[in-house]
Amino acid sequence: MKKKLLLVFLVVLSIACRKDKPIEEEVLWDRTPYLIAYPSYFTNPQDFLKMPDNNPLTNAGVELGRKLFYDPILSANNTQSCASCHNQKNAFSDNGKKFSEGIHGLFGTRNSMPLFNLGYWESKSKTNHRFFWDGGANDLERQVLAPIQNPIEMDESLLNVVNKLQVHSEYSKLFKKAFGSDSIYIFLVQKAIAQFERTLISFGSKYDKYLQTKNIAVFTQEEYSGMQTLFGVNDNGASGLGDCFHCHGSQGTYFLTDFDFHNNGLDVYPTDSGLYHITNNISDFGKFKTPSLRNLVFTAPYMHDGRFSSLDSVVEFYNSGTKNSIYVDPLIGKHFTHGGTLNLNIKQKADLVSFLKCLTDSTFITNPKFDKP
Ligand code: HEC
Ligand code: HEC
Repeated sequence: MKKKLLLVFLVVLSIACRKDKPIEEEVLWDRTPYLIAYPSYFTNPQDFLKMPDNNPLTNAGVELGRKLFYDPILSANNTQSCASCHNQKNAFSDNGKKFSEGIHGLFGTRNSMPLFNLGYWESKSKTNHRFFWDGGANDLERQVLAPIQNPIEMDESLLNVVNKLQVHSEYSKLFKKAFGSDSIYIFLVQKAIAQFERTLISFGSKYDKYLQTKNIAVFTQEEYSGMQTLFGVNDNGASGLGDCFHCHGSQGTYFLTDFDFHNNGLDVYPTDSGLYHITNNISDFGKFKTPSLRNLVFTAPYMHDGRFSSLDSVVEFYNSGTKNSIYVDPLIGKHFTHGGTLNLNIKQKADLVSFLKCLTDSTFITNPKFDKP
């Protein structure tokens, strides 16, 4: 009798458990929107990112993208994540390295790019060339596929990525929660990572304090005169101003880039043809994406090939080292009518570097929302 009772009890218990299990595991699609914390001085509708209609930011999507961004599961031998070459401490560039090392110990030929304010390229650039130094990716969703499949970066097939995620203990639930999908597809991996990348907003520098208050007292004298140099016109070489604003934005710009591509006179015959490699249009020879001047303190070395290790050497390059050629941008080329120099003196060069350092956002590199989950 006792045995029978025990058996009935066990059967009831096992039915109860079986019934409980699906309820416990049921995951609902959570479409709660993710709200980006923009600076309070943003008031113009253009200041806010336009999200693609087919991939709105949600809390669950961003959280999933963040987990994927930090997960080496996306690489062939599970050793390398996106974050291996895009470290938050370096404004998501690669740890001060000139070139990045992939999973087989091989090095690329371009300097890793910092990741912040990326979504603005999608709303503001005039062409479809937006991401990578040569503009080879049109949007953040498509960009994701390149490093995963690149044989010298993560060297993984998209099929393997999906299979590994599918058998992983957590990802099925996370994809269901983010996209309401019972299966994992590569396009959902792309969407999630792109969502996380669009949240990487950086507008917390001393220069932003100035934009907010319009009070020049936030700057030292050196920094203020450096700002005049950066945004000052230099058409004849006599004025000793930087003429940088044509490509890196006029005074008051939030972005410090014109969202375009230029040949800034690094070489007469560039070994890397840049945008030309993508468009096959000879007028694009040696053109590269104009990087934002924000967060430079964290992102050395500089230029597409990391050739300059300091900001002093970048400024000296623009002052006296640009090369004239038929490919050089007219805004650099014009200086060759007066000897190819900006005629900046030692103090102007030092002040310019001081101002560049005012574009540093330390809160960005310590923001817990962006670090490894
Ligand atoms: C082995 C190092 C490495 C890995 C791993 C890596 N990247 Fe990159 N990333 C780079 C380099 C180098 C560039 C510049 C490449 C170029 O221009 O050809 C770059 C460029 C980018 C850009 C373009 C930024 C811009 O402003 O145009 C984005 C976005 C990006 N990576 C995201 C990712 C994501 C997402 C992953 C993971 C799926 C990833 N990266 C993995 C090295 C890496
Ligand atoms: C004709 C457009 C143009 C002008 C004018 C210009 N730049 Fe640039 N700048 C670029 C482009 C394009 C790049 C990237 C070039 C490359 O990597 O091949 C760049 C790169 C840089 C970088 C490296 C950033 C990084 O992330 O690697 C710094 C710093 C910089 N410029 C500062 C300046 C300063 C300071 C001035 C004025 C003295 C200036 N630029 C004038 C277009 C321009």
